[in-house]
Parts: sequence; structure tokens; C-alpha cells
Amino acid sequence: CGIIGYVGHQQAAPILLDGLARMEYRGYDSAGVAVRSETKGLQVYKSKGRLQVLSDMIHGGADVEGTLGIGHTRWATHGEPNDINAHPHVSEDGRIAMVHNGIIENYMEIKQQLLRHGVTFKSETDTEVAAQLLEFHYNECHNMLEAVGRVLRRIEGSYAFGIICADYPNALIAARKDSPLIIGCGENENFIASDVTAVISHTRDVIYMEDGEIAVLTAEGVNLFNDEMDPIDKPHSHIDWDVSAAEKGGYPHFMLKEIFEQPEAIRKTVSPRVREGRVVLDDLRLTKEYIQGVSRIFIVACGSSYHVGMVSKYNWERLLRRPVEVCLASEFRYCDPLVDDHSLVIFISQSGETLDTMAALREAKRRGGRTLAVVNVVGSSIAREADDVLYTWAGPEIAVATTKAYSTQLVLMDLIALYLGDLLGTIEKTEYDTILHELEALPEKLERVLASIEDVKYFASRYFNHDSIFFIGRNLDYAMGLEGSLKLKEISYIHSEAYASGELKHGTISLIEPGTLVVALGTYEPLFDKAMSNVVEVKARGAEVLALATEPLKEKMAHTADSVIAVPETHPVVQPSLGVVPLQLFAYYVALQRGCDIDKPRNLAKSVTVE
Ligand code: G6P
Repeated sequence: CGIIGYVGHQQAAPILLDGLARMEYRGYDSAGVAVRSETKGLQVYKSKGRLQVLSDMIHGGADVEGTLGIGHTRWATHGEPNDINAHPHVSEDGRIAMVHNGIIENYMEIKQQLLRHGVTFKSETDTEVAAQLLEFHYNECHNMLEAVGRVLRRIEGSYAFGIICADYPNALIAARKDSPLIIGCGENENFIASDVTAVISHTRDVIYMEDGEIAVLTAEGVNLFNDEMDPIDKPHSHIDWDVSAAEKGGYPHFMLKEIFEQPEAIRKTVSPRVREGRVVLDDLRLTKEYIQGVSRIFIVACGSSYHVGMVSKYNWERLLRRPVEVCLASEFRYCDPLVDDHSLVIFISQSGETLDTMAALREAKRRGGRTLAVVNVVGSSIAREADDVLYTWAGPEIAVATTKAYSTQLVLMDLIALYLGDLLGTIEKTEYDTILHELEALPEKLERVLASIEDVKYFASRYFNHDSIFFIGRNLDYAMGLEGSLKLKEISYIHSEAYASGELKHGTISLIEPGTLVVALGTYEPLFDKAMSNVVEVKARGAEVLALATEPLKEKMAHTADSVIAVPETHPVVQPSLGVVPLQLFAYYVALQRGCDIDKPRNLAKSVTVE
């Protein structure tokens, strides 16, 4: 979900709608705003469906009067997406309105208690329980800040709250725990938002709220408090990217724009970290002694970031000669992981806010592991809590299906491997030099891949009506296939699976029948011949084979496959960075042919801050 709040001298509603539009990727099953004005009091508008429905309902905000307000775009957790469950939620007497991102775990227990006090509820949400509890305490103490403090002490779970109250015509209250929340500081106006993108067109001066903090914003200023309600001072941060980075720039979809931004994003991630032929990671505080004492490396992540971990496992074990375990964050946190003070635990996350990854990070720290986060969003929760953080410089990624963040994660993991391998003395100099050279040459080779977009478009138009597609490959091609398959299923809704080619004959091959589409990945040169023999197996069962190979192996592949897409050759460690791009484009054009909502696929959200 995304929340926003405004207090200042301008009309709030259009600003809230604009901010929500920039955060719609965080959730888009319902939206709402609450605005307070002297004459009309608290006005609440909310609606199921996309933000546009709400915007049309209030004529872009023109129907709503007032300079203080909050807004919300929802990704349902408690209660189905409908008008009633949409935020903001209002207390029984209509004085308090609240937006919330997160989950209140003990909401049922609190609800029962309030019901016993005669409070009635309109929705099924945990947020309404918080709003009603706030009113309950406010009626007791008649001081909003004190009442908020009491609510926060009572609830368990995660939250970012934006609160307004009819009795406080100039104040916006915010609080956070385990859900992102920033404060944007303007001239005679201030903002809260889940994400910097929502306020960047108004101000670049932001404060990152920390867990347990409460803020009271007025047009004139911001007062911050810790969980003991003591006033605190916090540094401001300056955002140095601009709003155009968060707009489509002529592309029909953010996803396509972001695919095309990959050469530049990779350049930005790699070049500042290479000096005189060596990888320099100034931000990393791991000493040689420490790294030599590491007995195990874990890579923990979700979704596409997990797939980066799968690629990195092959690469890191090869380059570092240390055991590397890749774990899904949602599993890791509950599996009693064998992390100790000789464990280096890497967390990969585009958003830096994924709740399972965050919880896994805390678990790893609790067990004495040293934590390193690879994150795209500066100042995000995971970035702040890890012992070390290295940023991917992909810029804001808006499309729900990740592309440039995935690619920058891949190259950053390669750089880290080179850096650690150098400290450990496990990489031969020539291999080190070649990999580094290839990482630097990657943007230019990627431009070539992007220039052959017409081939991919053609294959997408040929295969878009298949209802099940298999990706097969060995080693790095298998890891890359996991991502190719995920991209396809998340945006085109075609059933798809990725398999390690050698495993096919142990079951999956029974699914292959005449006409089944198999995307055969043959870019990992050391196992090309073995991969080919699996292509022969599926061909023999009647599969239609669309293959991916490096340019030198294209012809060989074409003997068996029905069609081949070729990518430039590079060092095997780096090859998935080139191979994945046609797979992203294939998913994109297939989804386009099928008329899918590419940037906002059904049921998905960009940043998953629930368990
Ligand atoms: C969501 C997104 C995925 C993403 C995953 C992990 O499910 O839809 O695209 O890979 O979260 O997100 P993170 O921000 O931690 O990389």
C-alpha cells in the first residue's frame, strides 16, 4: 500500500491524488482521500478499483476543499478490496481519519474489546480497529498526541500511519514501525509519503522516519518524537534524482522504459566502483581477516531478487570456493538457519522494504551473522538495518515486474564476488581482469541486444497464445530461466515453469506434448552440448523449441531448435546479464499481445510489506 499526507497553503486533494498516482505501483485495488476544511469539516472519498475511479469521482480533487489531508492506495490484506474496506478509515464519531500501510496483528483482540464498549465497525479491516482505538483513547485523554502514543503501545504488527483529526485543523500526525514512511519538507507545506517519488515534484528535502517515531506536521514545521514521546532532532536528506526519472518519457509502459534503461543503470552501478582495473567498494567495511574467517555465505531474498541469488550461487562458489546457500526470505526466517558469527549473510532487495527479507535480516543479526544488503532504494529499511549496504544505482523502478533493478543486482553481485575473491586470493588474475573488463563492456553489448528487439517481437506474436511455456537450461541458464519464466507468468498470466534441463526426464518431460513451447536456454557455453541433448529430447516429444544462444553458438543451436535468438558472447559469469534481456522483452511483448495491464499486473504489488 502507499500512503500520503499533506498540510500547507495549497488545496490538498489534487496534491494527494498526484502523489497517489506516483505510488500506484504499491497497490491498486482501491484508493481514498480524507481532507479537512473549515467550512466542510472532514470529507472522505474512497472507492474500489484504480485511482482513476476516485479521481473521476472528485473531479481531480476540485470537489474537495481543504489544505490538510491524507490519501491511500491499497493492496488488500485484511478484507476484500471494496469501497468500505478502502482507506481512509474514520472513527465512529467521524472526527478522526486514518490511512495505514502494514498489518496490525492483534486487531481481533482489540476489536473484541472495543465491541464490548459498544463501538460499532463498518469494515473488516485492521486499520479501522486502529482508528476506533484512537478515538477511544482520545475521548479519555483529549490530547491527540497522547492518544496516538497509547494506541502505538497497544498494537502489535507493522504500520505507517497518517492521521488527521477534525479538532486539529492544522496538524497531520504520522507514525511508523516496519513500514516505510518519509517526511517531505517544503516551504510552508509538509508531506508524508511511503515513497519519495510521491513528493519529489514538491520537495527534495526529506526526513526518513525510523521505527517507533512519531511526527506532527503543520504548514510551518515538523516536530518529531521518539517512542517515549521525547522530542528528537533528525538530519534531513537531499534527493538528487529528479521527477523525470519517475515518469514514462515517451515509452508506452514503464516496463519497456526500464528495460531500455538497463545499459545506463548498469553503467552507473559498475563504473564508480572500478578504479585502475580493480573493484573498489568504499562503502564495504569487511576486512580481509574477517572474510577469511567466513565459513558460510547465505544469500536471502524474495522474487526476482532471489533469482539473482540463484545466479550468484553458481558464480560465487566458482569464484570464492566457499559454500553459498540461497534462501527464500520467507523460508529462511522460520527454518532455524545455521547462521553464526562466521556467516556472511547477503540480502538482496530492490525496494529495501520487503517484509520477509527485513525479518530474515533481523533473524540473521540475532544469530550473530554479519549482514550485507544489496538494495536499490536509498534509505530504505533494509539498507538502514544491515551492517553494510551497497546500492544498485538503477534509479526508481515503477513497473511491478522488475527489470533494471534485477540487472543491476546481478552486476553488483558480480563486483562483490570479484572484490571478495581478490581478498581471499581465490580468483586468478586473468579471470579477474576478464570478468571486470566484460562487466565494463556490458552496457555496450546490451545496446546490441536491445537493437534486435524486432526478432523478439516477432516470436512473441508467434507464441503469445500458448497456455503453458517451459524454460529449460543448465547451470547459469537454469538460474536465468527462473527469472525469464517469472517475468512471463507475472505479466502475461501464461502458466510457465523453469527447469534444470537434466531434471526434465525425472518427471516434467511427461508434460511435453506436440506443440508445447519450450524456451531452451543455451548461453552457458561450458555445458552447451549437454543442454543440446536435452533440447533433442523435448523435440523428440513434439515440442516447439525457441532457443537462446550466444552468437558463436547460434548456428549449432539452429540445427535442432525451431528458432534461435542470439546474444553477444561474454564471460560465462556475466552471460546471464545479456541473456535475461530477450527474456524480459519476450514477456513484455507476449503480455502486450494478450492485452494485459503490463505495469500493474493483477494481484501483484511492487513492494510487499506484508508477510
Ligand atoms: C514483489 C515484486 C517482485 C520482487 C519481490 C521482491 O513480489 O512483485 O518483482 O522481486 O517483491 O522485492 P524486493 O524489493 O525485495 O526486491
